[in-house]
Amino acid sequence: MNQDIAKIMIDEEELDRVVTRLAGEIDRAYAGEDKHLVLLCILKGSLMFMSDLMKKLTVPLEIDCMRVSSYGAGTESTGRINIILDLIRPDLPQCDVLVIEDIIDSGNTLSHLTKYLKLKGAKSVRTCTLLDKPSRRTVEFTPDFCGLTIPDEFVVGYGLDFNEKYRALPYIGVLKPEVYKKA
Ligand code: IMP
Ligand code: MG
Repeated sequence: MNQDIAKIMIDEEELDRVVTRLAGEIDRAYAGEDKHLVLLCILKGSLMFMSDLMKKLTVPLEIDCMRVSSYGAGTESTGRINIILDLIRPDLPQCDVLVIEDIIDSGNTLSHLTKYLKLKGAKSVRTCTLLDKPSRRTVEFTPDFCGLTIPDEFVVGYGLDFNEKYRALPYIGVLKPEVYKKA
């Protein structure tokens, strides 16, 4: 185990089970000739989750990416998002967009992003998150697909970072407190 990790919260086997279950739910929801599923990876945190998820899906799909950063959360209750890499798709009005997120915390990122994608003209917009910390919400938001609900602890690994580190760990872990104090 990485020396900075205090404990493993979700191990590789459990992650695999969760992703398999989500893939089944998404397959059922997007079955049908009239669906044009586009998985939208929110970089960088959702990279590992989405690559595992797409391998398990059997419905036809396309992929795309956006990069956003949330700011204001914590200090500013309204919160906003900053679009660093936008989605450019002339066929968006034909697309059933499924936003793939690593974790929902305040709810700011996904509530703003789903509004933005609808304004841009997507045919439909739904959300899938691997993890959810509902106790941290400052904005009301409920994902359509959710892997696991977790307590209010800062987690890293499986794509999630602390200061850009720990993304490559194959499990979700909790950092040792001294790692925060050093940063
Ligand atoms: P929200 O806009 O407050 O819901 O924040 C969502 C974003 O905050 C996620 O996409 C992550 O990038 C980041 N985040 C929130 N909680 C954690 C965590 O426990 N570990 C790593 N990143 C987190
Ligand atoms: Mg993120």
